[in-house]
Amino acid sequence: MSSTKIFITGATGYIGGSVLSRLLAHPEAKSFEFTALARSAEKAAKLNTVGVKTVLGSYSDLDLLTKSAKEADIVIAVADSDNLPAAEAILKGQKEKFEETGKAPILIHTSGTAIISDDARGQHGDHTIYSDLDSDAIEALPETALHRNVDIATVKADKEGYVTAYLITPGTVFGLAEGPLVDIGVQHKYSIQLPLFIKVSAARKKAGYIGAGKNLWAAASNRDTADLFVLIFNAARKNPSSLGHGRDGFYFVENAEYSGFEVAEETGKVLAELGIAESPEATSNTAEELKQFFGDWWTLLSTNSRAKGDRSRAVGWKPVDGKKEFIQSIRPEVLEVVKSIEK
Ligand SMILES: NC(=O)c1ccc[n+]([C@@H]2O[C@H](COP(=O)([O-])OP(=O)(O)OC[C@H]3O[C@@H](n4cnc5c(N)ncnc54)[C@H](OP(=O)(O)O)[C@@H]3O)[C@@H](O)[C@H]2O)c1
Repeated sequence: MSSTKIFITGATGYIGGSVLSRLLAHPEAKSFEFTALARSAEKAAKLNTVGVKTVLGSYSDLDLLTKSAKEADIVIAVADSDNLPAAEAILKGQKEKFEETGKAPILIHTSGTAIISDDARGQHGDHTIYSDLDSDAIEALPETALHRNVDIATVKADKEGYVTAYLITPGTVFGLAEGPLVDIGVQHKYSIQLPLFIKVSAARKKAGYIGAGKNLWAAASNRDTADLFVLIFNAARKNPSSLGHGRDGFYFVENAEYSGFEVAEETGKVLAELGIAESPEATSNTAEELKQFFGDWWTLLSTNSRAKGDRSRAVGWKPVDGKKEFIQSIRPEVLEVVKSIEK
């Protein structure tokens, strides 16, 4: 039997590394042939040691992306949810594959619940809770919303029929990544959002939030997120009729909801214990601090993004980690961030 060729981008990242680790331990792993995009020769060499072929390059190497996508049966794109030229290059390769074989290849693309965010600036948590089953509401989201540029192109390609696309759409992903790719020093261990806030709190020596810290975001753990990727990967190959795709192919990844204040409150406790903050009290970042630490990004970082992964659960996703684990995940993140600052 010929092997299933999988091209994965972002495999050295916090999410993509966990997805690749799971797939390397998949019961059918022997029949998979992995090729990962790697930006550094050093990381490529490390990936080779665990049986993953690599192509050296980045999302700027469009011809390479097209060629790699064309050679694959399945593309798992986890490097950048916003890079339209790269997404188009991958789709071009998949279209060429379809034209050659007559069979639509699979695309598992990573989006994010920032697509449904508002402009709360931390002042309230009063925003629509979007269900991933509500394809009409998702389709009506403005083209200017984050990630929509790539999502729209991906859904269009699915509609044209040359690719079957699934859009995994996480809220904040939390928890330090673990697994063989972390152990060999190839995978980012940390997420993006929480460490950013923690770094700012450590720098101002007082836990901080934006506005009134009342904005709410959906969240899911790194391992639950990787589980959903694997579930979609399995069903897309074995039982595609069980899965919505394209405009009906958004799978929200959430199993907790948190406010900006809650993150600051927990961060404050740890910073005070470490003697970095005088007290555990969290305060709102001043206008100067917002500008200094977050630049123009502060409004984006203080939105609401309220999601229900009804479609994800309907296809069998059973997330384990919830609000308790989210709050518990902040302490080790603070310790790691502080350690990295002290280095
Ligand atoms: N983490 C979250 O909470 C979250 C939530 C929703 C959506 N997302 C989205 O999911 C994607 C992955 O997130 P993540 O947390 O795993 O990020 P990450 O840890 O920063 O990983 C990004 C991965 O993509 C690679 N990469 C970045 N830019 C690239 C480029 N221009 N060309 C080729 N490879 C590139 C990185 O390679 P190197 O090892 O060379 O850096 C790394 O493998 C992002 O697009 C993010 O917006 C993340």
